[in-house]
Parts: sequence; C-alpha cells; structure tokens
Amino acid sequence: MQLKNAILISGAGQRIGYYLAKQFLTQTDYPVIFSYRTERAGVAELVRLGGVAIQADFNQPDAIDSFITEVKARVGRLRALIHNASVWLDDSAPASFEQQMRLHVELPYRLNQALCELLQANESADIISISDAKVARGSAHQIAYLASKAALQNMTKSFALAYAPRVKVNDIAPALIMFNEGDTESYRQQRLQQNLIPIEPGPEVIWQTINYIMQNTYLTGQVIRLDGGQSLV
Ligand SMILES: NC(=O)c1ccc[n+]([C@@H]2O[C@H](COP(=O)([O-])OP(=O)(O)OC[C@H]3O[C@@H](n4cnc5c(N)ncnc54)[C@H](OP(=O)(O)O)[C@@H]3O)[C@@H](O)[C@H]2O)c1
Repeated sequence: MQLKNAILISGAGQRIGYYLAKQFLTQTDYPVIFSYRTERAGVAELVRLGGVAIQADFNQPDAIDSFITEVKARVGRLRALIHNASVWLDDSAPASFEQQMRLHVELPYRLNQALCELLQANESADIISISDAKVARGSAHQIAYLASKAALQNMTKSFALAYAPRVKVNDIAPALIMFNEGDTESYRQQRLQQNLIPIEPGPEVIWQTINYIMQNTYLTGQVIRLDGGQSLV
C-alpha cells in the first residue's frame, strides 16, 4: 500500500536528517520515507522504527531518476519534502562544483517538479530546504558550496510562487548547529564566538523550526535565518 501524508527527507542516515526522521517517527503519525547513501546504524534504527529507506548516491548517473521512480511507487500523498542532503567541500576538492550543484540545486529542483503532484494531492503540504546562513556573507574557500546553497535559497521564492496556495515553500538557513567530530577545540571556540548566542544548539532547533513552518498556514517563500544572532555581530 502507498504511503499517505508522508514526510520525505533526503540524507537521513546521520546527524540532522536522522534526528528529524526519528522525531517524525516517534513524535508524530506521519509515515517517513528517506534517502541514505552510506549504510549506518542510524539507517537500521529508522527502518526498525517504521521508516522506509531508499539507498541513493546522487553522484551516480541516473540516481535522481531512479530515486524519483522509487518514491512515486511507494508514496500516494506527500505532507512534506525536506531537502537536507548536503556535502561541504572546499573549492580545491575534486568535482567540488559539480557535486554540490547536483546535490543542493539539481536534486531539489528535480524532486520539487517530479513530486509536485504528490504534494498537491495532500490537503496541505510543505517543501522545506536547509541552506546555510553563510550565504549572506561569502567564503574565500567554499565558493561553490555557497553558490549552490544560494541557488537553493532562491528556488524557495520561485517554487512558492509556482505552487501556491496548496504547497508552502520555505528555507531554513542555519549557522552552527552541530560541530563535526574532527573539529578542534580552538575552531569550536572561534565558531561559538561568532554568535550572539554562543552555543552548539544541536538538531532540536531545526526540528522546532520545521514544526513552526509546518504548523503555520500563512508562511511561504521565506528564508528563516537560524543563526543565534550571527547576522547582528
Ligand atoms: N551541521 C551544521 O552545523 C549545519 C550548519 C549549516 C547548515 N547545515 C545544513 O543542514 C543540513 C544537515 O546538516 P548535517 O550536518 O546533518 O549534514 P551531514 O552530516 O553532512 O549529512 C548530510 C547527509 O547528506 C548525504 N549525502 C551527502 N552526499 C550525498 C550524495 N552524493 N548522495 C546521497 N546522499 C548524500 C549524506 O549521506 P550518507 O551519510 O548516507 O553518506 C549525509 O547523511 C545540510 O543541508 C547542511 O548543509 C548544517
């Protein structure tokens, strides 16, 4: 049987995506379907909780097409489409531009178009992307990363225009949410000092913002800066 009123999350095998999928599965009645690339304990845990997992490495040719086909086979109606999958590469990394443009621009663009009918079929629906607060500032070494996240933010406005009133389209632009395992103590301190609220907030604040967006019936086309006040410093 096809899923109704489902939440689709890209890249939910770890960290923020995993946390969001787990919250939906344990705190709500929404069925969850998600993509993952790497086999991880988190993927097995989400499946054990009832999530539907689809493996996809979007760097591979035709992976986006195959993913769309599989989602359409499993889902009848979508309550929310959450663009979380991401890669953070320096400009010196091989194929940095291509990889980040594919994951942050082509994938959401294609999913929004291909899954529009499934979203429109639901009583209400949301598209929510996760970009980056640093888009507003720039970076000397992550030019492609920020260009791709800027494009993702911009698509919020165009898809909001295209899909109103039934589907709301919004973006969350976070500053520091979670450190990476290898981050040094001095790097952590330097990042914390960039914010008015100098904490590592964790994925709970993304979950709160997703709930705010989904429950709000009058919010579309917006980029929500979730930055601990960084823009004022
Ligand atoms: N963490 C922060 O402080 C922070 C700050 C600003 C913005 N954000 C944004 O918030 C979102 C979540 O952040 P995060 O730190 O949880 O990200 P993350 O740990 O890097 O996880 C992103 C997910 O994307 C998936 N992914 C990467 N490349 C892929 C590919 N080629 N094909 C398929 N899947 C791929 C990964 O899958 P596998 O693990 O399965 O390989 C991974 O699970 C991202 O959009 C990020 O840009 C985060």
